[in-house]
Amino acid sequence: MSIKTAVVDGVATIEIARPEKKNAITRAMYTQLAVAFDAARENAAVRVVLLTGQPGIFTSGNDIEDFVQRPSDEDPPSIAFMKALIGCDKPVVAAVTGAAIGIGTTMLLHCDFVYVSDEARLAMPFVSLGLVPEFASSLIVPRLMGNARAAEKLLLGDPFTGADAVECGIANAVLPASEVVRHARRVAERFNALPPGAVRETKRLMRRGQAAAILDAIGVERDIFGARLQSPEAKEAFSAFFEKRKPDFSRF
Ligand code: COA
Repeated sequence: MSIKTAVVDGVATIEIARPEKKNAITRAMYTQLAVAFDAARENAAVRVVLLTGQPGIFTSGNDIEDFVQRPSDEDPPSIAFMKALIGCDKPVVAAVTGAAIGIGTTMLLHCDFVYVSDEARLAMPFVSLGLVPEFASSLIVPRLMGNARAAEKLLLGDPFTGADAVECGIANAVLPASEVVRHARRVAERFNALPPGAVRETKRLMRRGQAAAILDAIGVERDIFGARLQSPEAKEAFSAFFEKRKPDFSRF
């Protein structure tokens, strides 16, 4: 089981737990994540979700081996996870315990509170993998921080710190690595003292202006992303990753 869940005192904790592969998310794990978010939504005892990783790593993003193996299904399990996260009507608090790469960063765009370890690096290196942005990041990132800074993060795939993430509007605060989960949990627990109906409606109102555009972006990105996975550029990038070398895009 690489996704662990627990419900304690109104807080549903969803923990990505595959440290030997830097918490890379497989197809099976996306399904587990989708089930966990749906269960949190449906469980009346849950007021809030706490999403976290392992010490030193939040997630290295999609499992690259799975990218290589991926069947050309219309809606891969990652899409079910995306829909479950954006469909979660309870607050989601993320504790970014370490590196957050690819979907590790883009999932944060859909959380309500994001606390980042001072040791964490975030990155959306889709282009360097021959891919395109996903999880509506092509829509949300430019809107959040403007085209200039979005281009650094999406076109160049430049990594950035928790402090940059706060400055860009992705995260709430940076905390010492040893404090980040504790702090996120303290924020989550505050929802036990708030009226859940008002919280739910307020979250829905805050998100409704962009909801249709986000679903539309996820669909458009999914089609291009699926095609890019089969591209010679992506194949070179995946081979380079497993051969632990720099990719060579000079022949494209
Ligand atoms: N998919 C599959 N395996 C992955 C992975 C991923 N996304 N990220 C890490 N791993 C594996 C490595 O292949 C390695 O496996 P091995 O021990 O069998 O060789 C193991 O996890 C440890 O990774 P390693 O790269 O040695 O750790 P590191 O501490 O030096 O670097 C990262 C950590 C996260 C910076 C680095 O692993 C990385 O950049 N991963 C890929 C991120 C990425 O491009 N994700 C896709 C985004 S769309």
